[in-house]
Amino acid sequence: MLSILEANYRGEKYPIYISDNAIKQLEIHLRSLKNNYLIICDDVFKDKKKHPDEKFSKILKNSKVLYFKSGIKNKTSKYADKIIEFFYKNSISRDCEIISIGGGVVGDIVGFAASIYHRGLKLIHVPTSMTSMIDSSIGGKTGFNRNDVVNLCGTYFHPKSSFIDIRFLKTLNQRDLISGLAEIIKKAIIFDEELFDFLDKNKDDILKLTPKIIFETIVKSVKIKLLITTSDEKESNQRLLLNYGHTFGQALEGYFGINQKFLTHGEAVSLGIVAASKLVDQKYNLNTVKANKLLLKNFKLPTNFSDLKIKKKINVKNLIKNLNNDKKRTIHGMRFIISKKKGTGQIIYETDKNLIKKCFKSILS
Ligand SMILES: NC(=O)c1ccc[n+]([C@@H]2O[C@H](COP(=O)([O-])OP(=O)(O)OC[C@H]3O[C@@H](n4cnc5c(N)ncnc54)[C@H](O)[C@@H]3O)[C@@H](O)[C@H]2O)c1
Repeated sequence: MLSILEANYRGEKYPIYISDNAIKQLEIHLRSLKNNYLIICDDVFKDKKKHPDEKFSKILKNSKVLYFKSGIKNKTSKYADKIIEFFYKNSISRDCEIISIGGGVVGDIVGFAASIYHRGLKLIHVPTSMTSMIDSSIGGKTGFNRNDVVNLCGTYFHPKSSFIDIRFLKTLNQRDLISGLAEIIKKAIIFDEELFDFLDKNKDDILKLTPKIIFETIVKSVKIKLLITTSDEKESNQRLLLNYGHTFGQALEGYFGINQKFLTHGEAVSLGIVAASKLVDQKYNLNTVKANKLLLKNFKLPTNFSDLKIKKKINVKNLIKNLNNDKKRTIHGMRFIISKKKGTGQIIYETDKNLIKKCFKSILS
């Protein structure tokens, strides 16, 4: 199984290899290099049991590697600086390639460091989590968190190529896998009815990571992210639709802080999708909640706050306050992404506070 997709950002093209053996393509690529390369790798791969094969172990053994202590709390300027120091100590030039191996945290922060060092180095992504495979490694956003604000600082910077090896998913914990799946469901609801039906039909195989089905799921999902981000790289129009579920979801995330122990981003998006579905149903007299909720539930994602193991009681007033402090608040009202019909999405501005409260309440009881 191999699919080579072409990313094309304003004429700058690069390949994305998706395969059940993409490490082989990575190895061929590294062998073909005339110049130096450095690897920055998630420290979960210090454990050989998490390596998809012997080739991967050999690559790490025979390369200069900086292991990055994984976890959202390390997505900071301090770690970006450590990476820059690693570049500096190895006297790298602009021809040197930087290989980022890990989930979205490693990819975002390595991408950031690579984008500013010598005003831009050659970057290669090897995403190893579901979120990084189908989302964060595509589209060029890099960054780190600061002052409890997610991705407060960042740049747009595309890699020279990406190698997605689906075998990495085998060692990912269930919660991280499912969180990544929330982003695929989101894309299906707002962009692709066929993907919605595919997910529904193949839920068991996706959760079991059946290679053929998971490969297809990732290829479909990467294609959507590419389509959207290549037509609207800087998020002025179409790309905003990717924020479906995020307006409600981020208000919840803000409530629990940047540490994802209580609520992961994917779980917040899942709850946000249910609230956004309630909004569209109430406003346009539709019935979208049922189907969207069912799909999320089938993937073991939370559709109500009671599905999470959190004792803390939530105050709706605080959630509304989080919304008001959000950058999605405009002079026209609060910006929401809605889907009136599966496979379609649109942006609306809402000023009715009671309606917004009702939507929050629908996921809290
Ligand atoms: N740049 C973008 O467009 C974009 C889009 C979405 C999310 N993000 C960012 O991505 C981050 C979330 O990504 P994530 O969910 O990958 O988080 P993550 O990088 O923290 O990875 C989640 C956990 O899985 C572990 N892990 C990764 N690969 C593994 C593997 N193959 N086997 C076992 N364990 C593995 C990591 O060590 C970590 O503990 C957030 O910081 C978010 O802001 C960025």
